[in-house]
Amino acid sequence: MRLALLGPPGAGKGTQAIRIAHRMKIAHLSSGDILRSEKSAGTPLGLKIRDFIDRGKLVPDDLMIRVMEDRVARIHGGFVLDGFPRTLVQAADLAGFLDSIHKPLDLVVNFVLDENVLSRRFEGRRVCPVCGSVYHLDTMPPEVPGLCDQDGQALVTRPDDQPDVVRERIKTYRLSVEPLVDFYKKREILVTLDAAGAPNDVTAAVVDLIRGNAGKKR
Ligand code: AP5
Repeated sequence: MRLALLGPPGAGKGTQAIRIAHRMKIAHLSSGDILRSEKSAGTPLGLKIRDFIDRGKLVPDDLMIRVMEDRVARIHGGFVLDGFPRTLVQAADLAGFLDSIHKPLDLVVNFVLDENVLSRRFEGRRVCPVCGSVYHLDTMPPEVPGLCDQDGQALVTRPDDQPDVVRERIKTYRLSVEPLVDFYKKREILVTLDAAGAPNDVTAAVVDLIRGNAGKKR
């Protein structure tokens, strides 16, 4: 199964991608996680993309395509893409690349969510600055308040979750999503899913879609 998740910032793409990868035994590639780890390591790529992330702007397509396709090429087996592609240019390039290696996407799930639910997800999100684990103060709290379950580090708010940056990220998303959705509709691999449910319910719904899709192909 080769899958991509679309959806606004804070919709739960990362949360679901981890669960789906685990359930389906496929690789998980998160463009945001890759960029954040390059940024915090201060690599040449990290220095190039730092300002874009901090301001809630998209990293230029050519750079993003190179980074993600290079990683996709190294995966043997299925994968779930989270945060990529994000623009029509990225989607078209990825499709050409995946077609060329005979591994086209099987399914693209477009998460949709009410604005009020989205705001609550941003406000309550806390992350581990070391391992990147994601929590929510109300809906997915850590076992010990304020500390990461994995490594005991103090949880923080993601720097780009400041309200002004969030507004910019949502604006950017709204401008880019429609052509992307049209692109995957034409390829007949797009399904839209209301992602407002509890985490387990959303995971179950995505797994159902994957299984239904696999069934169609047999
Ligand atoms: P990225 O990290 O991809 O950010 P995003 O798309 O804005 O998505 P988020 O990580 O904010 O949210 P999410 O949908 O993963 O939600 P989460 O699971 O955390 O990108 C960051 C930046 O990198 C971009 O702004 C851009 O600069 C750059 N970038 C990345 N990709 C790029 C690309 N392709 N092109 C150009 N630039 C790119 O969930 C949110 C919260 O809700 C959490 O607290 C979670 O615990 C909680 N939660 C999740 N699901 C549920 C649920 N079902 N019920 C209740 N709570 C839930």
